[in-house]
Amino acid sequence: MTSGADTVTTSRRTTGAVKSAKMAPVSAFEIRHLGPDEKDLLVTATLGNLNWREGRFSRFDVLDNPTFAHYTRLVPDRGDFGLVAERDSRPVGVGWALFTSADEPGYGYVDSHTPEFSVWVADDARGLGIGRALTIRVLAVATRRAIPVSLSVEEGNTRASKLYKSLGFTSVPGCADDGVMIWHPRDHTRNNKKGPA
Ligand SMILES: CC(C)(COP(=O)(O)OP(=O)(O)OC[C@H]1O[C@@H](n2cnc3c(N)ncnc32)[C@H](O)[C@@H]1OP(=O)(O)O)[C@@H](O)C(=O)NCCC(=O)NCCS
Repeated sequence: MTSGADTVTTSRRTTGAVKSAKMAPVSAFEIRHLGPDEKDLLVTATLGNLNWREGRFSRFDVLDNPTFAHYTRLVPDRGDFGLVAERDSRPVGVGWALFTSADEPGYGYVDSHTPEFSVWVADDARGLGIGRALTIRVLAVATRRAIPVSLSVEEGNTRASKLYKSLGFTSVPGCADDGVMIWHPRDHTRNNKKGPA
């Protein structure tokens, strides 16, 4: 399955409005497909995720450490997919899901049929609903494909944890201490309001 073709139902790009109540108007954001040639964006996003609390790592570390580097490779032929949020034609966020193997597992690896999801939003675009919008869109793709999605979140990353729990991710028994969470489309059918809207 190729990336993107089943990602957005009506058009290639979709839009969203950022939260702007009581603030000066801010521009809306667009969501588009992530391409396999956007490695630099995935390096930025992976670095931002590793450094969510403080600047522990560099771009060099991301590319040099195989466990980090695999988050920078989108391989559509194995089913990987992702979405980019853009504001004023600038990428300000990305949500992507990668199928990895037991030989090269990510921190949120569950099994080879479950892609590991990551999401990152640029510093100056956080808290505006972009991370939630990207996550919901990725879960919509997973629903159409009838696949679960896993992830890993570090202890103390309350903003990310709150987002994931609010969309129905739950801790994986036995891996909860490692922050591994999973989301199953079967738990989020039309009759079950927990789902992505
Ligand atoms: C985590 C992250 C992706 C969320 O994206 P975002 O665009 O900032 O989040 P949103 O504006 O969509 O808010 C989503 C939820 O996050 C939580 N949140 C947002 N801002 C928050 C804040 N200042 N404090 C606590 N929680 C907050 C809320 O639960 C919010 O839900 P709501 O929409 O009902 O208010 C983004 O903040 C980020 O990239 N952080 C650094 C890297 C990181 O931690 N990545 C995740 C690794 S597991």
